[in-house]
Order: sequence, then C-alpha cells, then structure tokens
Amino acid sequence: MEISRVGVVGLGTMGSGIAQVCLQAGLEVVGREVELDLGERALARIDHYLSRGVEKERLTQADKDAALGRLTLVTDVAELGSCGLVIEAAFEDLEVKRELFEQLDGIVASDAILATNTSALSVTQIAEATQHPERVVGMHFFNPAPVLPLVEVIRTAHTSDEVFDAAYAFVQRIGKEPVACNDTPGFIVNRILIPLLNDCVRVLDEARVAPEDVDRAMRFGANWPIGPCALIDLIGVDVHVHASEALHAALGEERMAPPRRLLEMQEAGQLGRKTGHGFYEYEA
Ligand SMILES: NC(=O)c1ccc[n+]([C@@H]2O[C@H](COP(=O)([O-])OP(=O)(O)OC[C@H]3O[C@@H](n4cnc5c(N)ncnc54)[C@H](O)[C@@H]3O)[C@@H](O)[C@H]2O)c1
Repeated sequence: MEISRVGVVGLGTMGSGIAQVCLQAGLEVVGREVELDLGERALARIDHYLSRGVEKERLTQADKDAALGRLTLVTDVAELGSCGLVIEAAFEDLEVKRELFEQLDGIVASDAILATNTSALSVTQIAEATQHPERVVGMHFFNPAPVLPLVEVIRTAHTSDEVFDAAYAFVQRIGKEPVACNDTPGFIVNRILIPLLNDCVRVLDEARVAPEDVDRAMRFGANWPIGPCALIDLIGVDVHVHASEALHAALGEERMAPPRRLLEMQEAGQLGRKTGHGFYEYEA
C-alpha cells in the first residue's frame, strides 16, 4: 500500500495544516472545500506559512513552489477517487462526517484508507457509515499541525491490522510522531488535558487568583512550557468547551464539564487569540 496521493476533506484550520504537512513531505494532495473560494483561502494560508519558512531558510523557494505545485483544489468529493488515503478534517459533527464517509467509501479504490481527524466523536460510529469499516482509522493531528509532532492513530474494533499499520507508517513517513490509540473518548491527550485544564480554570475562582498567577504557577512549578490559561486562549475557548462537553457526555465525570467561567467567556465572544480577547488581550 504505497500512498502517493492524499485527499484532505475540509481545508479549515486543521485541514490546511494537514495538507501543508503532506505537501512538504513530497506527496500530491487533493484538497476539497465546499466552495472554491474557501479552498483558495486555504491555499493562501499555506503559501503564507511556506513563505515564512523560506524567509527563515527552513526551505528553499524551489521547495515551496514544488510543494504548492503538488496541491489541487476541488469542490466535488468524487474527485478524490485516485487518492490512496483520504484524511477528513471537516466540521465536528457526526452526521456531516458519516455522510462524507459513506460518500468517500463509494468513490475511493478498494485498498484506499479513510481517516478522520475528529477530536471527540466516535471513530467507530463514523466507520460504521461505510460498507468497509475495516479501512477506517482516526488520524488525530494537533493544532497547529505543521508544528506539533504528535498524531494519535486510532483503531476501532473493525480496523484491519494491515490498514492500521499502513496508517501508522504513513504518519512516520510525513515526519510526525504516531501514537497507537484505541477508540476511547478523548483518545490519550484530550482525555488527560481537558479535565486538567478545567481544573486550572476552576482554581481561578476557588482560590481567587489571577490567570497570570495560575499560569506562572504551572510554568515555574510544574515546568509547563505554557500556562493553562494561555493554552486555552491558543486552543480557542469554544473549541475547548465543545471538546469538554463531548468528553463529559461520554464519560460523565464532573471535571470534564466546562467550568462556568469558560461558558461565560464563550457567551461573551471572548474566545481567546482568534477574537483578540480571552484570559488575555491580543493585538489583531
Ligand atoms: N482546531 C483544533 O484545535 C483541532 C485539533 C484537532 C482536531 N480537530 C478536529 O478537526 C476537524 C476540523 O476542525 P477545524 O478546527 O479545522 O475546523 P474549521 O472550522 O477550521 O474547518 C472546518 C471545515 O469543515 C468544512 N465544512 C463545514 N461544514 C461542512 C459540511 N457540511 N460538509 C463538509 N465540510 C464542511 C469547512 O468548509 C471547513 O473546511 C474537527 O473534526 C475538529 O474536531 C480540531
């Protein structure tokens, strides 16, 4: 199973980052967006990050041009038929993903692999929308995908060993660090990180301390590279709340439910870096 062409469905924050990683690894990428102008916006983002790489001498102008030359933008899922692997990074909604997988299953070759980048949905339920759930895995990249090395490779009870091994090897081939996971809520990182970040936010109110002090405490006392409040601002309060709610719904532990303070921030549109306001203020 030699994968030379990869499909990426949804070129938002994650999909465009995943496409960039694959392009830089020398693969052909077919990127699918619902509308062409969204695809072109993703292309502009990839161009911007690659240009920064050229400025910092991490790649040459020729590498950048070749990488962009390997990207094809499409709007029709049917154009992903020649891809040996399709990574889905669409909106986090079970029905949207199940519908896409059902479509993709009928389009790709019999030995192609289908992967979802879902953070919090059941990979099994997504796989079961296809006639061939043995070819479905989770491939959970972290944001920003071109920067963070980890990819959780998730197998369900249906995933064949051959498909899992090929997905794992693919992640290594694109220069990332795969970790084998089972299809359990939050996989590894979110299962640990989400309740932990929620605890940090609850401490703000329980201990009546400032975000700056909780962040400094965890940086200087636990050697975290970034404080928890700054990390939530980076992730996006809405993204964190959504993932907390999903984990809470799946496992029922109170620490997993989003703290009231985060719900209030979400309500007020204080979503972190992306809105310029969160625990901290950011310049546009
Ligand atoms: N943002 C993160 O930190 C992060 C990290 C890891 C995984 N994820 C997961 O990656 C996936 C994408 O998240 P994102 O943050 O890139 O979101 P995003 O909002 O930036 O992008 C979502 C994409 O879905 C597409 N889309 C919207 N509605 C659609 C539909 N009905 N059919 C097909 N495509 C549709 C959009 O055009 C867009 O390309 C989600 O499953 C999310 O849980 C996100």
